[in-house]
Amino acid sequence: KRPAGAPDKALARPVTKVGVVGAGLMASQLALLFAQRLGVPVVMTDLDEQRVAKGVGYVHAEVDGLLAKRRLSPDKASFLKGLVTGSTSKDGFADADLVIEAVFEEMAVKQQVFAEVEAVVSAECVLATNTSSLSITEMASGLQHPERVVGLHFFNPVAVMPLLEVIPGERTDEATLATGFAVGKGLKKTCIRSKDSASFVVNRLLGRFMGEYSRVVDEGTPVEVADRAVAGLAPMPPFVLLGLVGPAIALHNSETLHRSFGDRFFVSPTLRRLVEAGKRGYYATDERGRPVPDPEVEAL
Ligand code: 3HC
Repeated sequence: KRPAGAPDKALARPVTKVGVVGAGLMASQLALLFAQRLGVPVVMTDLDEQRVAKGVGYVHAEVDGLLAKRRLSPDKASFLKGLVTGSTSKDGFADADLVIEAVFEEMAVKQQVFAEVEAVVSAECVLATNTSSLSITEMASGLQHPERVVGLHFFNPVAVMPLLEVIPGERTDEATLATGFAVGKGLKKTCIRSKDSASFVVNRLLGRFMGEYSRVVDEGTPVEVADRAVAGLAPMPPFVLLGLVGPAIALHNSETLHRSFGDRFFVSPTLRRLVEAGKRGYYATDERGRPVPDPEVEAL
């Protein structure tokens, strides 16, 4: 099934070589994932030989670990090691179809990196950023081809976490976005299309959760108790959980929080609309009790 908001996959460009800017932990994990799942050459770059060697060393050590656990054959392990190379020069990006940056999280640094990459790559090459919160539109703004920039936000540890946020900037074209989704699929990730707003979707939700967790602890709840509370939560998407709890109770809860804590908690207009319309949840349920979209709710 095509992820919501993904363009037609026929628009995606083939990716036969990948560049990774940076050789830190995230970048090295990305280099390994691209080599493993796409089976294409990956060239990693960083500022000096030492950093590059550390990144390539990480990839080789991970491959050796997989070999020791018999998850890879010796032939596959040496093939993978051969796919990932490192350099202090970006010249190796000249024939790359996709270059992803995973450098220091600062706008000016990332803009500079993209400008340097653009001077080397072909006009068709997709430029991706693994930023966790910065604006894709702003990052692309000084480039000759801002339409080829897309956010591909991975999660740590990259090898294990199933999710990938694909984020178009204002000027990202359909071919670039389609390539982002196709690459995500090739990497066996579950892709979601996120809006280009501060921290996108995941870190915005996670930030609120982590922030409140810290406050609960700061206000005197022992960490062990807070951890038990978290572990005791049902692993359900929030709006499925809403159906379980009931919108009226959830509305009452959010009104109480708003009264107590002010603007840190707001009363969701969606929640209020659900209660006013007499709905028992955001989703309807099918004959087996599974959540399905409710057209009446979507029309509210
Ligand atoms: N690299 C590769 N594989 C790893 C790994 C790593 N760094 N860490 C764990 N794994 C693998 C293990 O090899 C194991 O695989 P196997 O079952 O096939 O042998 C599997 O993951 C489970 O590992 P463990 O049994 O050692 O430990 P856990 O079951 O506790 O899992 C975890 C570890 C996967 C890290 C799990 O605790 C987890 O999912 N934690 C949540 C991580 C998370 O929320 N990440 C998102 C952070 S936010 C972010 O990245 C956004 C950024 O912008 C800030």
